[in-house]
Amino acid sequence: MHHALHQPVLLEATIAALGVDPCGCYLDATFGRGGHAVAIHARLGSEGRLIAIDRDPQAVAYGRSLAWQRDDGRPAARVDLMQSRFAQIAAVLNRLEVPALDGVLFDLGVSSPQLDDPARGFSFRHDGPLDMRMNPNEGISARQWLLQAEVEELTAVLRSNGEERHARAIAQAIQDHRERFGDQALRSTGELAELVRKVLRRKARGRDEAKDPATRSFQAIRMQVNQESAELDAGLEAARECLKPGGVLAVISFHSLEDRRVKHYLAQASGARAKTDPVTGVPERRDWPFEAPQRVLADALEVERNPRARSAVLRYARKRHDPGR
Ligand SMILES: C[S@@+](CC[C@H](N)C(=O)[O-])C[C@H]1O[C@@H](n2cnc3c(N)ncnc32)[C@H](O)[C@@H]1O
Repeated sequence: MHHALHQPVLLEATIAALGVDPCGCYLDATFGRGGHAVAIHARLGSEGRLIAIDRDPQAVAYGRSLAWQRDDGRPAARVDLMQSRFAQIAAVLNRLEVPALDGVLFDLGVSSPQLDDPARGFSFRHDGPLDMRMNPNEGISARQWLLQAEVEELTAVLRSNGEERHARAIAQAIQDHRERFGDQALRSTGELAELVRKVLRRKARGRDEAKDPATRSFQAIRMQVNQESAELDAGLEAARECLKPGGVLAVISFHSLEDRRVKHYLAQASGARAKTDPVTGVPERRDWPFEAPQRVLADALEVERNPRARSAVLRYARKRHDPGR
């Protein structure tokens, strides 16, 4: 095992947030290389249960190769590992006859093994085919999407998923490139990265950026290819539905767009956004599913050990016992 490849982020904080009950039933919806799942499993007794899903077949294969034994030799909790995605959570739990969960974890985004393998096409640092699918057997690749999307759609995606100020100029450059190279266009991640950098160099006029200027476009295209916003919404909804009263929803995000979505969802779902009646002071609705959410960031020590933790935000909230009051 290469621990450096998949150092779990905010591990202790996540375990503390979930407050793992040895007899409880937990869902890790983003198994990856099992950093969090294995730690949750280690805290479960033989009565406990862990369900882990990932849409990436390589992640699931890796999970199936693990022994899932406890270090102390005591009987381990049952583990069910499924290749599945957020929008299918309710169906998976149904199939496994899991009535309700004590905790759900989403550690969003791509895993280090996905990012580091040029063949997966996520990275602008290593040249590879422009794929970017977390599940290479589902949907269309980044290249296919980039070859067929209209300039308007390219612009909208780069703007909304990447917060790219020069979305239109990049979309236009993609269009020009397609016209010039036809079905030979955009064969690799390196080619796309260079095309984006060229546009942004022109716009930057000497101003330097800390990040590679292709970062935002790659994020935007990856989110589009994997339908990440819709998946996240479906996942949060499934968590609300499937948690027991007192159960915990925990979400780790790595960029502001994702974090904002989680923050807004939890604010809504805990009533923090509730309007009160100006006369009586009574909140407009009272059936908020969650208690007040909490936020945790990585401390300096963790950031030093694992630079990926720098941008990580954990948000969690407990499902209310009394949503009617
Ligand atoms: C940041 S990694 C998780 C790392 C993991 N917590 C660990 O410690 O090894 C995110 C994982 O979630 C998976 N993933 C992302 N979106 C998903 C979705 N909508 N449904 C299922 N899995 C998803 C990715 O394939 C990736 O393996």
